[in-house]
Amino acid sequence: MFKQAVSLLRQAKKGRYALPSFNTSNLEVSKAIFQAAEKTKSPLMIQVTESTIRYAGLENVFGIVQEFERNAKVPVCVHLDHGKHLSLIKNCIDIGFKSVMVDASKYSLKKNIAITKKVVLMAKSKGCSVEAELGALKRLGSSDSHLTDPQEAKFFVEKTNCDSLAVAIGTSHGAHKFKGKSKLDFSRLKEINELVSVPLVLHGASSVPKELVQKCNRFGAKISKAKGVSETDLKKAIKFGVAKINIDTDLRLAFTAGMREFYAKNPKDFDPRNALLLAQDLTQKVCVHKLVLFGAKGKA
Ligand code: G3H
Ligand code: 13P
Ligand code: ZN
Repeated sequence: MFKQAVSLLRQAKKGRYALPSFNTSNLEVSKAIFQAAEKTKSPLMIQVTESTIRYAGLENVFGIVQEFERNAKVPVCVHLDHGKHLSLIKNCIDIGFKSVMVDASKYSLKKNIAITKKVVLMAKSKGCSVEAELGALKRLGSSDSHLTDPQEAKFFVEKTNCDSLAVAIGTSHGAHKFKGKSKLDFSRLKEINELVSVPLVLHGASSVPKELVQKCNRFGAKISKAKGVSETDLKKAIKFGVAKINIDTDLRLAFTAGMREFYAKNPKDFDPRNALLLAQDLTQKVCVHKLVLFGAKGKA
């Protein structure tokens, strides 16, 4: 059943757990996510990116997740992840997204505020909540990141009236987050949390489990030097105020491992549904693990 993002986020913040926000790009990943949430009685956010919308088509992908949302026995909100184009954000709001992220984090503070304000104005009149981002996550292949400044975060939230804020504290998207150990800036997070009243969001939070990478590689992949955020650090981040955690990479790894395993073991099978079922099953297991880890289990 649909639930407003703001109330899901506030409930998570108050209950000191994190609302899981899983990325989907197709029917099977969506199914896995919803099954995991229902199995564990967890509230849920499910999100799609601009590139998924380009890949699948807005009506198609929204149709899939909205149908699952309608029939779900747990509270759910469908969310646009990393909206960078105002026209696309508007299309998402018009079609019925009740939560969108505006990502203007690559711009100056002034421009980020101006763009975010525009989206807040556009979204709130349609009952849609807005996540914004301040600071920039590390980019793949580059070592520079611009971590969120706590005072700027306070100013940004007051100026924009956004409902939640994605912060940069040392994570990055993808499967190669750290050269050595997982390392997040918790004192920065703590300070932001003391100054900012809205729920905080952690992007780039996949743990990139060794077993999943090994499974992909055992069945033909060549993924090396992969490293994610440790589970201990994720728990600590929740303690220090993170109320929504985004996961994409770990689901991609699980799905890929399942597809690879199926075809390696069943070379004569050419009904894609059989491979997709195994991929879905592995993805579901990863989602269940996250829901327990984030403390969301039983909070529906
Ligand atoms: O930021 C979220 C994703 O992990 C990147 O997703 O490849 O669908 O743009 P994408
Ligand atoms: P990961 O790449 O760590 O899964 O992060 C996903 C994300 O932040 C989506 O917005
Ligand atoms: Zn992200």
